[in-house]
Amino acid sequence: MATDQAAFEKTIREGYHFAGAPVPLGGALLGGACLPDLKIAAALALMNRHGLVAGATGTGKTKTLQGMAEKLSVAGVPVFLADLKGDLSGLRAPGEVTPRVTERAQSLGVTYTPAGFPVEFLSLTGKKGAAVRATVADFGPLLLAKALDLNDTQASVLALVFKFADDQHLPLLDLPDLRAVVSWLAGDDPPDLSEYGGLAKSTAGVLARKLTELESQGAGAFFGEPAFDVHDLLRTAPDGRGLISILELSDVQDRPRLFSTFLMWLLAELYEELPERGDADKPLLVFFFDEAHFLFDDASKALTEQITQVVRLIRSKGIGIFFVTQTPKDVPAPVLEQLGNRVQHALRAYTPNDAKALKATVSTFPTTPFYDLEETLTTLAIGEAVVSVLAESGAPAPVVATRMLPPASRMAPLTDAEFAAAIDASPLAAKLGQAVDRESAREMLAARMGHGPAAAVPGGSMFPGAPAPTEPPARPRAGKPEPTTGAQVAMAAGAMLGGLLKFATSRSGQTLIRGVLGTPTRTRRRY
Ligand SMILES: Nc1ncnc2c1ncn2[C@@H]1O[C@H](COP(=O)(O)OP(=O)(O)OP(=O)(O)O)[C@@H](O)[C@H]1O
Ligand SMILES: [Mg+2]
Repeated sequence: MATDQAAFEKTIREGYHFAGAPVPLGGALLGGACLPDLKIAAALALMNRHGLVAGATGTGKTKTLQGMAEKLSVAGVPVFLADLKGDLSGLRAPGEVTPRVTERAQSLGVTYTPAGFPVEFLSLTGKKGAAVRATVADFGPLLLAKALDLNDTQASVLALVFKFADDQHLPLLDLPDLRAVVSWLAGDDPPDLSEYGGLAKSTAGVLARKLTELESQGAGAFFGEPAFDVHDLLRTAPDGRGLISILELSDVQDRPRLFSTFLMWLLAELYEELPERGDADKPLLVFFFDEAHFLFDDASKALTEQITQVVRLIRSKGIGIFFVTQTPKDVPAPVLEQLGNRVQHALRAYTPNDAKALKATVSTFPTTPFYDLEETLTTLAIGEAVVSVLAESGAPAPVVATRMLPPASRMAPLTDAEFAAAIDASPLAAKLGQAVDRESAREMLAARMGHGPAAAVPGGSMFPGAPAPTEPPARPRAGKPEPTTGAQVAMAAGAMLGGLLKFATSRSGQTLIRGVLGTPTRTRRRY
């Protein structure tokens, strides 16, 4: 290891000198000592080159993303954070001045100045913030298959159900809509499905059961209208700071498949909704995807490929994605390769498996003459990390061990009263508070089968003796958006079956992304 401090200082000073604005991270560490004059930062303009925040439990990942969110907000960049443990709400309140924080700030050569930030709380249940809902059709069969834990055969049947509903002009807005269509197909008198290659009744039965299961877990609240408008994530506060949107997931912690697919859906929505954007001096939004391993665990090959594509292409829309997880090996290699900015907190090396993971992590960093990375990564203190970011040239800046800045906002969560007050004060929470149940597949099928539109279609049961429709039901009411097109849903089905599509960054490429992620076309209205 080179221990020449002068060479180190020169390398780091040059490597971290950016022409554009920095996202300050902390100060350089060498031989365990902090060199406060060597400021370490990421380049704001390259935050859309994505990143990874990794490290063993309790090593400081969450505080790192809290600090990064603050610095981005100050730079006028809106931020989205998924908060699994409810430990990010403190971003809204100024931090406490404690001896530890003051000492950390001093060691970094900065004065600790507490500050609260503009925060909007979002929630899938609507209980902990403005309700984030998606229609079933927008969510699409590929992501829904993952949320439902379907195998490949079941997933392809689900795609066919979407296509069928689409051909029949049956809008799939909420889970009861989908269940109604599945029940019909699985029932005693199903419509002719020969042009869809037929459908095994038993598989449709499994789908019906899985949907009921999902609903019984309370997931019904996440699907329906009003659907969330991703433009609400792109706001800035009156003082010019970027809005920090925190999706509170603590009340759905035990349903990782559901929330991780929801996060992916949000990304697909952003991709779909935003125009292409050339290189800019700062990103439009930075999206922190916490506990990212839940998205990739057992993900089908098709889903992993599509996630890879979204990550690759969303950059040109000005969106940066930071995955947050314990070790880089939680992220599939083709995704990992695209994560240009790395903050790697300490790793443990207790077991042979840990040692392997450590070696693998070291191999993902550029080489450095100044550190033995295996040793450094196992000896970093809490709130310290090995940093490797992209310099403005697009090449990696030198690897450097860094003591991270303390967040300016509160590290503890808001109190219940503060949290309730924040939600009360949010116009967005009020706007999205009330679910709307407009006429959709369930009501239309019920009407067709001779029940009144209000008649419920019971889950899992059928419409005894109901005739198969000879003609499609009436088009949706005026003012309703167009339903999905069969071709696009078919594409989704095709992708799931392995016939993957080529992508372009053109408008048609965008449609493909939506199609392939199984979120075919817009079926919701804007409010
Ligand atoms: N940058 C920092 N400044 C000040 N204190 C910090 C910093 N990073 C970490 N800490 C301290 O370490 C504690 C643990 O950090 P944090 O919650 O970020 O860990 P984590 O890696 O997210 O843990 P988990 O895996 O359990 O989510 C914090 O509560 C805080 O006291
Ligand atoms: Mg954490």
